[in-house]
Amino acid sequence: MKILVATEKPFAKVAVDGIRQETEAAGNELVLLEKYTDKAQLLDAVKDADALIIRSDKVDAEVLAAAPKLKIVVRAGAGFDNVDLNAASAQKVVVENTPGQNSNAVAELVLGMLVYAVRNFYNGKAGTELMGKRLGILAFGNVGRNVARIAKGFGMEVSAYDAFCPAEAIEAAGVKAAKNQEELFETCDIVSLHIPATPETKQSINYELVGKMKKGGILVNTARKEVIDEAGLAKLMAEREDLKYITDIMPDADETFRQFEGRYFATPKKMGAQTQEANINAGIAAARQITAFFKEGCTKFQVNKGMF
Ligand code: 3PG
Repeated sequence: MKILVATEKPFAKVAVDGIRQETEAAGNELVLLEKYTDKAQLLDAVKDADALIIRSDKVDAEVLAAAPKLKIVVRAGAGFDNVDLNAASAQKVVVENTPGQNSNAVAELVLGMLVYAVRNFYNGKAGTELMGKRLGILAFGNVGRNVARIAKGFGMEVSAYDAFCPAEAIEAAGVKAAKNQEELFETCDIVSLHIPATPETKQSINYELVGKMKKGGILVNTARKEVIDEAGLAKLMAEREDLKYITDIMPDADETFRQFEGRYFATPKKMGAQTQEANINAGIAAARQITAFFKEGCTKFQVNKGMF
């Protein structure tokens, strides 16, 4: 079987070595397409692939149509909004993710970016501390839970809201459960987003919701840029000079946000999961899931179950 690793943003070399080892030990062949700049390169590379490992790489109907032998796509990571599940299912292609494997890396970056933000992007002026501040976590999945764990180490008060996680489960983790997302924004000094990009969440972080934040509020986004109503947030930040927005996902409206110098920070490439450890965890998990799929028909992490 030919296993293609197609990563516009490559894994660390040590992770690629691990993926190769796992793949070849199972008697399969590894093909690497890294740092591609043109979709045509991906369309060409998938034409004889039996399996595909990706990160945030877009696997749309065109890519799937160019891959007649494809049986499985594994998104080495959590969010699979970059894969067209309907098109994959129509072609009977199994789609999987590797939940939890890169969540600590993302969570560490959240706290790192927060220190950077409250210390005024290290400009030398007096900032504030995180201890005693209330952090609101929107969606209490693998990343949200890790953020809560690390934030407690900083001495922060932690609240969370998750539409799919009961309040009791949040409280059992030692975190205050907010009644809804409005309450989370109203009561917290900082809100960190960990929601997936779905039809319900897209553009849901808007003028009205963020406008509920207290004076000096900080919004952190290491989830997806699509969940932000960028025009609404920019309008709000123009009206409220106390608000900060920090993200590891460059907004489409980056140019507009740049006017908020000292209150806006974005990394050029999504980098929450860009650590050796996360690459090793997610990459090798993906390779192992592919081995198990071909050897035993295992589809434990399939996200398009029941779609074909
Ligand atoms: C994820 O969904 O797992 C994260 O957003 C990481 O994405 P990346 O693999 O593109 O860094």
